[in-house]
Amino acid sequence: MGQPVNVGVVGCGAISAQYFPTIDRLPGLRLVAVADLDPERAREAVLPYPGVDVLSVAELLADPRVDVVLNLTIPAAHAEIALQAIAAGKDVYCEKPLAATAEDAERILRAADAARVRVGCAPDTVLGTGTQTARKAIDDGLIGAPIAATATMITPGHERWHPNPDFYYVPGGGPLLDMGPYYVTSLVTLLGPVASVIGAASRTRSKRTIGSGPRQGEEIQVTVDTHVTGVLVHASGALSTLVMSFDGTATRASNIEVHGEKGSLVVPDPNHFDGSVLVSGPDGWRDLPASAGYAEAARGVGLADFASTPAGQEPRAGGALAFHVLDVMEALLSSAHTGVAVNVTSTCERPPPVYLRPSEEA
Ligand SMILES: NC(=O)c1ccc[n+]([C@@H]2O[C@H](COP(=O)([O-])OP(=O)(O)OC[C@H]3O[C@@H](n4cnc5c(N)ncnc54)[C@H](O)[C@@H]3O)[C@@H](O)[C@H]2O)c1
Repeated sequence: MGQPVNVGVVGCGAISAQYFPTIDRLPGLRLVAVADLDPERAREAVLPYPGVDVLSVAELLADPRVDVVLNLTIPAAHAEIALQAIAAGKDVYCEKPLAATAEDAERILRAADAARVRVGCAPDTVLGTGTQTARKAIDDGLIGAPIAATATMITPGHERWHPNPDFYYVPGGGPLLDMGPYYVTSLVTLLGPVASVIGAASRTRSKRTIGSGPRQGEEIQVTVDTHVTGVLVHASGALSTLVMSFDGTATRASNIEVHGEKGSLVVPDPNHFDGSVLVSGPDGWRDLPASAGYAEAARGVGLADFASTPAGQEPRAGGALAFHVLDVMEALLSSAHTGVAVNVTSTCERPPPVYLRPSEEA
């Protein structure tokens, strides 16, 4: 293996604590600098990692050591930071969604093309053994031709645990744009791109109350739909039924099921890297051992996979996939608001499968 890729992180909030240990562990990545609007937060976040510089955003983007900017800001800031990173000639890997709107995401991809730099985006959970083993089962014909899938995410809302949950209830958030990227990316990985959608959506209340941290008890405004349902018509003809909710309280539905002509699959939570894959057969359901994907993975494995993707090749957790996923979600909301089916004009390739290997080999 050659030299590690130098990573500069912008945004040191809740999720950064999951990335830093992965970057520390994986031989292909090296954390060199961090920045946040709140420099104290950045300083605290890297206390366990001596030698990492705490810089201003402008300093980090101008730092010649930084090869790739890991953008862990809130969705409303994703485009601004990504475009600045691209203008500075850096590759950029964003947390999901790629931007708050598909229009902004398209601007990012265009700017990156023009600057000849690369764009990657979470979620990388679908590169773990859960979704990848399910994908291999489908590709190996275990359930025959896929006909349909269901994807269900029902929770009372992240304001119960996140100390600054405002971004979940403004455009760029909501259950669809926040959690949908895991589910839609998994569905595209399993069944291919989406050609059209039909949606319906609702919201139960205009205010939410923060449940933890220094702002506990504070009310925040809700300006997005908080229960979104719909059908994704894949280009293959398969139909995925989606339910994404911050309004329900609990569910026992599988996160994802895929139904084929010969059998069905239970696919584990696409917000996690691993989990049991079940396949139906004449004797009932049986567990499939992990047969594909990055083992013992954690957030940041997709960044290592991105960093090691050969030049000229679209990374698995790449911008084209993230843009298509965002476009599908926006189309679903548009359909929900207009009451008519919406064609999805973007498309993407199914990312190449990941053969079973340790995440250190990403
Ligand atoms: N919290 C989670 O469990 C979780 C899980 C998966 C993905 N994500 C995604 O990660 C991203 C960040 O979420 P989070 O929970 O860490 O949010 P957060 O609010 O805890 O942290 C975001 C950080 O970004 C900083 N920031 C915002 N705008 C900035 C700017 N323009 N320049 C520099 N810094 C800026 C903020 O000061 C803050 O420290 C979101 O896209 C979210 O969807 C979060």
